[in-house]
Amino acid sequence: MSVTKSIPIGRSILAAWRGANTPICSALTNKCQKTKLTTFCHQMHQSAQITTTEITFPSFMFTSSSPKIGCRTATISDKKEIIDFLCKMFLSREPLMSALRATEADARPFVEYHVKDALKNNASFVAVDEMGSICGIRLNAVGPATEEDKPKDFGVKMNILEKFLEHVEGNITERLQTPRFMRHIAICVNPDIVRSGVGTMMMQKSVDYARDHGLRYMVATCSGQVATKLALKMGFRVVRQVLYEKYSDSDMYFSCFPDDCLVKPASFKPFVSVAPQHYSAKLLIKNVL
Ligand SMILES: CC(C)(COP(=O)(O)OP(=O)(O)OC[C@H]1O[C@@H](n2cnc3c(N)ncnc32)[C@H](O)[C@@H]1OP(=O)(O)O)[C@@H](O)C(=O)NCCC(=O)NCCS
Repeated sequence: MSVTKSIPIGRSILAAWRGANTPICSALTNKCQKTKLTTFCHQMHQSAQITTTEITFPSFMFTSSSPKIGCRTATISDKKEIIDFLCKMFLSREPLMSALRATEADARPFVEYHVKDALKNNASFVAVDEMGSICGIRLNAVGPATEEDKPKDFGVKMNILEKFLEHVEGNITERLQTPRFMRHIAICVNPDIVRSGVGTMMMQKSVDYARDHGLRYMVATCSGQVATKLALKMGFRVVRQVLYEKYSDSDMYFSCFPDDCLVKPASFKPFVSVAPQHYSAKLLIKNVL
C-alpha cells in the first residue's frame, strides 16, 4: 500500500504528515519506523523528488501492528502514570522548569499536588496508544485555584515557579467576572510524537468539556512559544504578557540572558535564565460559549 499526500516543499516531513486521517502514529510512535521515514525523506530530498509537492509514502508507514492514539478522560487510577510521565517528559522541556533546572526530586511534590488537583473534576485528558500507555497529558482544573490542601512550601525552585505563575494569572476570577471557567494546568506530549496533532486533539477534548459543562471561558498561562502557538490555534487570545526580563520579586529575577552572558547589571540577584526564544509568559483566554 502507498499513499500520495501533498506537502509544502521544504517543510518538515513529520510536520507535513501530522493531521492525516491515516494511522499517522504508525510512523511516529515507533522509533524504528520514524528512522526509516526520516531516511526515506532524506533520500527523496537527495533525489530531487522534493521538487514535487506530492510524495508517495511507502507501505512501512501502515503496518497493522502500529499503535494508534486516542484520547480519554484522565481518572484517579491514572495518577501515578501521569506523575511519572510528567517527571520524565516535562521537566527538561517546559521552559520554566528547564530554566530552573528542576530535578525530579525538586518537582515531584509540586507535580503531585497539581495532578491531584486536576483530577478532581474529570476535566483532564490523556492521550493513549493502542497498548493503553499514556503518551500525552492535558491537565485542567475547573474554577479558580484554591489554597485548600495546598502545601505552603514546594521547595525553593518550585516556590519561585508557583509565585511567578500566580503573578501572570493575576486575579482571574475578577477579570472574568465569573468562577465558571476552565484553567489549563499543564500539557505535555511524548517527544517522539510531537507535532503530530496529539496536543490539538487533547485541547479539542478540553474545549468540548468546557462547552458541555457550561464553562464560559478557558484560561491558559503559557510559558513558551509552542504552547502559546497551540493555544492561539485553538482560538485563545493573549490578554496579558509578562516579559521575563522585566519580572522580579524580592528574591529573584527572571532573565532571558544566556547563562554565560557577561553583560549583567552589577547588582544582579540570583536569576532564572529562560531560553531567549520564549522571552515572555502569556495569559490567554478563550470564550467558549
Ligand atoms: C506543547 C506541546 C504539548 C504541543 O504538543 P503537540 O502534540 O506537538 O501539538 P500539535 O502537534 O497538536 O501542534 C499544535 C500546534 O502547536 C504549534 N507547534 C507544535 N509544535 C511546534 C514546534 N515545534 N514549533 C512551532 N510550533 C509548534 C503549531 O502551531 C501546531 O499547529 P500546526 O501543526 O497546525 O501548525 C508539546 O510540544 C510539549 O509537550 N512540549 C513540552 C511541554 C511544554 O512545554 N508544555 C507547555 C507548558 S504547560
